[in-house]
Amino acid sequence: MLKMHFHGHSCWEFTDGTHRVLVDPFLTGNPLADVTAASFDGLDAIVITHGHGDHIGDAVEIAKRTGALVVSNFEIVNWFASRGCKGHPMNIGGGREFPFGHVKFTIAHHGSTGPEGEPLGNPMGVVLGIDGKKIYHAGDTALFYDMKLIGEMYGPLDAALLPIGDNFTMGIDDAVKAVELLAPKVAIPMHYNTFDVIRVDPKEWARKVESKGGRPAVVKPGGTYEIS
Ligand code: NI
Ligand code: MN
Repeated sequence: MLKMHFHGHSCWEFTDGTHRVLVDPFLTGNPLADVTAASFDGLDAIVITHGHGDHIGDAVEIAKRTGALVVSNFEIVNWFASRGCKGHPMNIGGGREFPFGHVKFTIAHHGSTGPEGEPLGNPMGVVLGIDGKKIYHAGDTALFYDMKLIGEMYGPLDAALLPIGDNFTMGIDDAVKAVELLAPKVAIPMHYNTFDVIRVDPKEWARKVESKGGRPAVVKPGGTYEIS
């Protein structure tokens, strides 16, 4: 069974009973976070979708303390290496099998400067293959039609984790269309209500997804979604 723990914003933790993978651990300064950087041990990997501070977050501290492998684009992995973290560089379109599962990076339409404004390559989404399940974490992105290709080629997706907060990423209606294109077994919203500028009603999104025949699940920060 795959457990997906939502730590608020775009931070997800995946556990299958053997392995533990964290994506975009923005905890310090995240008012929705239910855990702190000190909460993690026995972590296999930290996947980073892009360089923005609300995605790199506490990853340096967590990677250093746990020894977790940082998996991201070439520029971001070098940035972590210069801070004493071990990593594995990849890039958009690349896939690789790791002991904890499979990582395939996809496009995302967004930016990827670092916390100090340094250029950190291109933003990405990721399809994670863990415990025989396929999970798409879209990172921060606008809607793009190639989501259809992601669903067709790397699916069927057991879950799609999609930003719905608008302003910086897809808003509600674009994220409803994304569910249509991806056709996942379940779609779960993220990247909303952390800050005033991305305040939206996830129930409105869920209603609209259902009206199009999709299956939404709103997971509260601190909550867990299980896929058996
Ligand atoms: Ni961003
Ligand atoms: Mn963001």
